[in-house]
Amino acid sequence: MTLPPGANSSGLLRYWRTYKAIFHPLKLFEDDTKHYGEIYRIGRRSPFTIVISNPQAVKEIFTAPPERFDVGRANASLSFLLGDNSLILMDGEAHQQRRRLLMPSFHSEYLQSYSQMIWEISEQVTNRWQIGKPIRVRLYTQEITLRVILQVVFGLESQSERSEQLRRLLSEMLDTISSPLSSSLLFFQFLQKDWGSLSPWGRFLRLRQQIRQLLYEEIRSRREQNDLAGNDILTLLMLAKDESGASLTDEEVHDELMTLLIAGHETTASALVWALYWIHYLPEVREKLLKELDAYRETNKIEIVKLPYLGAVVSETLRIYPIVAGSFARVSKSPMELMGYQFEPETAFVALTYAIHHREDLYPQPQLFRPERFLERQYSPHEFLPFGGGNRRCLGAALALMEMKLVVAQILSQYNLELSSDRQLKPVRRGLTMALPGNFQMLVSERKSEKILALIS
Ligand code: HEM
Repeated sequence: MTLPPGANSSGLLRYWRTYKAIFHPLKLFEDDTKHYGEIYRIGRRSPFTIVISNPQAVKEIFTAPPERFDVGRANASLSFLLGDNSLILMDGEAHQQRRRLLMPSFHSEYLQSYSQMIWEISEQVTNRWQIGKPIRVRLYTQEITLRVILQVVFGLESQSERSEQLRRLLSEMLDTISSPLSSSLLFFQFLQKDWGSLSPWGRFLRLRQQIRQLLYEEIRSRREQNDLAGNDILTLLMLAKDESGASLTDEEVHDELMTLLIAGHETTASALVWALYWIHYLPEVREKLLKELDAYRETNKIEIVKLPYLGAVVSETLRIYPIVAGSFARVSKSPMELMGYQFEPETAFVALTYAIHHREDLYPQPQLFRPERFLERQYSPHEFLPFGGGNRRCLGAALALMEMKLVVAQILSQYNLELSSDRQLKPVRRGLTMALPGNFQMLVSERKSEKILALIS
C-alpha cells in the first residue's frame, strides 16, 4: 500500500466535516483517529494532507533538515492578520535569519529579567477583583498577557498612551473573530466581505487599520527621535540588516510586530484560564500547589519558575487540551517515505498534538488531569509538543511557560477563587485555537494566605 487510509469525503459529507472542524474540532480529531489510526490522509486527490499521531513519525518530520519542507507558504492564509512579511509566513534562509535575530530576546535566561515585571502586571490587573463578585477570567488573563507582550516588544519603560490604545484595539479585533460562529470567517473566504462597520468582517478590517496606523506611528516616532538604544524587540528589528546591508522596511517591521503581539498573548491567555480552571476543579491539585507555594522562601521571583509541582500543573494543562491542536503543516519538497507509505512532493504533514497527548500508551487514562505524570516520567519532544517542534518550534515557549507559572502563583497566593459549577467543561474553538468558552466565570471568594503574601512580595 502506498497511501495511508483516507478521510476523503465528498459532497455533503465534506460540508459535515467542515462543520465539525469549526464547531466540534476535538470530536472530529477523536473520531478520525479512532477510525483511521495514527496516520491518515485528508483531501480528495493528491497532494494530500497527512495527519500523524505517531511520535516516531513526528520525530522524523521535526528533525528532518529544514530545506526538505516548506511551512511558511502553507500559512499564507494568515497574511490577512499578520501581513505578508511575518516570520510565520517565511521559509528557507529568510526564515532562519529572522529566527536568529529574534531568538535571543525569547531565550529563557534573558527572559528572567522580565519575571518581576510579569508579577507586578498580574498584581495590578487582579487588584481590581472584588471579594464576592464573579469575574470573567479571560478578560483578566488576556489583559495580563497583552500587557506583558507589549512591554517585551516595545520595551520595559514603554507605558505610553499608544501602548494602551494598542492593547484595547488588539483585544477588540481578536474578539471579532473568536467565537465559534465568527471563527467561520477564517474558514470561508466568501464571508470576508466588508459590509460596513457593523458587519463582523467590516469591523475587523477597521480595527486592523487602526492598529496598523498606531504601529506605523510608533515605528516612525522611534526613527525620528533616533531612539534606538533600548534592548526591546522593536529596536532590534529596526537595527537589523540583511546580508546586503539593507534595513527592514517599515512594513516588514510592522508585520513582525503584529505577529509577536498576536501570537504572543492569545494562546497564553487561554492556557492561563485552563490552568485556573483545573486547579480549582480538582481540590487536591490546589492543595498540593498551595503547599508547594507555602514552603517557598525565596524573594527572587525566578525561583517560582523552578517549582516542580507548579511546572507539572502547567505541563498537564497544556497536555490535556493543547491550545493549538496540531502543528503547522510541513509541505514536502521532494518525494518521501514515512511509516512505510510513499508520498509525493507537495504533501502536507501535520502532527496532531491533541491525539498524541491522548495516547493511552504514553498517558494512561489520558482524559484525567493528573500533573504527577510529569513528575514520574520525562516525555520526549515528540510525545509532549504543545509548542510544536523542530525549526518552527514556538518562539515564545519559554516566555509562555514563565508567564503561566508566575501568574498562577501570584493569583493563588492572593486570592481564593471558586468555580460556579462543578460541571466538567470542554474546549470550544477560539479562532485557530482551543479555549474555554469566553464567558467562563469564577467567583472571588476571599483575599487569602497573608503568610504566602508576606513571603513572596
Ligand atoms: C501557551 C502559549 C503558546 C502556545 C500553546 C503556542 C503554540 C505554538 C505552536 C503550536 C506553534 C507552531 C509550531 C510548529 O508547528 O512547530 C507556535 C509558533 C509560534 N509561536 Fe507560539 N505558542 C504560545 C505562545 C507564544 C508566545 C508567548 C509567543 C511570543 C512571541 C509565540 C510566538 C510564536 C511564533 C513567532 C511562532 C512561529 C515560529 C516559526 O514559524 O518559526 N507563541 N506557537
